[in-house]
Formats: sequence, C-alpha cells, structure tokens
Amino acid sequence: MDPENLVKLAIEAREKAFAPYSNFKVGAALAGPGGKVFAGCNVENASYGLSVCAERVALWKAVSEGEREFVAVAVVSASEHPASPCGACRQLLWEFCGDIEVIIANLRGVRESHRLSQLFPHPFDRTFLTR
Ligand code: THU
Repeated sequence: MDPENLVKLAIEAREKAFAPYSNFKVGAALAGPGGKVFAGCNVENASYGLSVCAERVALWKAVSEGEREFVAVAVVSASEHPASPCGACRQLLWEFCGDIEVIIANLRGVRESHRLSQLFPHPFDRTFLTR
C-alpha cells in the first residue's frame, strides 16, 4: 500500500470524526498485508473517558472482520505537527501489528514515517507471559 494512499484514506476517515468536546478530529487507516484497509475516526462521548481514539476504532474494525496482520498505519490530524498515537493506542497496536510502519500526517502535507518500535520501545507483550 502506497503511504500517500493510506494517508488519503485516513483523511477521509477523519472527516467522519465525532469530536464535539475536544474539537480535535483524527483519522486512522490500517493496512493489511493483502492490501485491505480498515479506517477509523475518533468517537467522543459526553462522559469523556468513554471516548475512543481513531487508531483503536480502525483496529477493532479490522480484528472483528478477521484481519490479524498489518503492515502500516496512517494517522491524520489537523495539528501543525502531525500527532502521534497516544500511549494506550501504541500498546494496542503493538499487540496486533508488531513493528509496523506508522505514518503520521497533517492536512498541510507534512508526513513523517516511524517504526512502532521507535515510538514504543521496550513494550510489554505476550513474550513475558510464556512460562
Ligand atoms: N485522539 C485520537 O483519536 N488518536 C490519537 O492518537 C490521539 C488522540 C483523539 C482522542 C480524543 O477524541 C481527541 O483526539 C483529543 O484527545
């Protein structure tokens, strides 16, 4: 999947964000190895703590549709510097995606590419749970 295509899908998903409390809209697009893409946006709630990040919506959509492997994720916001995934989403992405490419982008054409291992070093994962 071409990174710019993935960003475009994340931009489209961002337009559906429900963010009346923060006014901070985020879109995410998660690419599987076969080219299938699952997109998501943040969905907020009047009980703020129940709000869900765009990355998590994309991930839950993908996993619930049977996709378990991923190659890249794009995250788009309108901030001056592209926003990176929050700590909780890094943990959740690591569970299913491992060391994927994380493309962060804004609406002004700024793009950055990172590996998840750079953003989330020394993760806690299943390797600690084996006896
Ligand atoms: N948000 C995301 O959707 N993804 C991130 O990586 C960072 C934060 C959302 C959560 C909340 O709806 C809004 O942005 C402000 O925190």
